[in-house]
Amino acid sequence: VSLNLKTSLTKGVIMNHPLYNFSPGPAHLPLEVLKTIQKDMLDWNGTGLSILEMPHRGKEFQDLLDSIQFKMRKLINIPENYKILFLQGGAQAMFAFLPMNFTRTKKKLNYLVTGMWSEKAAKQAETYAEISRLNPLTSSTVSLTDPTTWGLDNDAAYTHITLNETIEGIEIFMDPVKGEEVYVADASSTLFSRPMDISRYGVIYASAQKNIGPAGVTLLIIRDDLLEHSIPETPNVYNFKVQSVANSCQNTPPTFNIYVVGLMLDWLNKAGGLSSMYEQNKSQANKLYNFIDESSYYSNPVDPAYRSMMNIPFLLSDASHEKSFLEKATTSGLMNLKGHRLVGGMRASIYNSMPNEGIEALINYMSQFSKEKANV
Ligand SMILES: Cc1ncc(COP(=O)(O)O)c(C=O)c1O
Repeated sequence: VSLNLKTSLTKGVIMNHPLYNFSPGPAHLPLEVLKTIQKDMLDWNGTGLSILEMPHRGKEFQDLLDSIQFKMRKLINIPENYKILFLQGGAQAMFAFLPMNFTRTKKKLNYLVTGMWSEKAAKQAETYAEISRLNPLTSSTVSLTDPTTWGLDNDAAYTHITLNETIEGIEIFMDPVKGEEVYVADASSTLFSRPMDISRYGVIYASAQKNIGPAGVTLLIIRDDLLEHSIPETPNVYNFKVQSVANSCQNTPPTFNIYVVGLMLDWLNKAGGLSSMYEQNKSQANKLYNFIDESSYYSNPVDPAYRSMMNIPFLLSDASHEKSFLEKATTSGLMNLKGHRLVGGMRASIYNSMPNEGIEALINYMSQFSKEKANV
């Protein structure tokens, strides 16, 4: 098990400080992955062609696709009766294409609403079906930390959950209970960060640009008995059955992005796989939350039972200091800490490839900044 891969890899410097990118996505990619891309850009695998030039139906790319699916199945434990699709359009395209692929006969869907992304998903789905919304954060009978309380309308084709609300920093750590219900999960900002029991879900989908690879490819993992429910209006390239039969090549897939997903899987494997990544991510997140909780200057509003391990929003006690906090952070090499425009404050996104040094540097900077403000 190599833990070193997650440490001491930074790409640039600013005013003699190493650079750490806290962006919510597109996010920090491991240096090792970027260097391999650089090498393969002119000659991939001795073919004499750039990875960007490989035809998608050629043997080389088809072999690559097969090997990536094989590696992913093994690394994140995807059962044999699940298909792995590489689509385009991002998670937001799936907000529409999921209902289209599930509502041929059942016209009702359940949505667990825990933040802005799940609300957006529910809103989009309303075009295609009758939506039951459940908000565990405001309900006394539904608990976010107890999936047995999530039971919704039994006639629904699926229950949609957003495993990690990237904007608010709210994460659901428990997998749903095994049963008849079909759970569909937006796992955009959590997939690959920790082990999950994929067999508890009907569908798991994710935009790639956090832990999986570059923006432009959408991963969709679907149980194969769920491929028969699309409405006739579903476009072929977004029909999960059609794409599954075509092994994601009904249209030209995002070949370069898929190749980078393969490199990310190799990197994750070398870094010790999901269990090791989970331990490291948990320890980094705990360090930052502990610092925030002990400080009288910073705060995080989220219940500790469902605080995100990937996106940590925090507020300064005086919002008028935010501009100077961000400016000084940038010149200290701590990039992209601004919170989402709709919630304000700050947010540190600490995906798999954030090194320990980045967390240390952030805590040192926050500590120094709050001391300066206390002395003003
Ligand atoms: C949880 C979640 N869902 C959906 C999206 C939307 O992804 P995209 O813009 O790639 O469609 C994001 C993007 O940040 C996200 O974090």
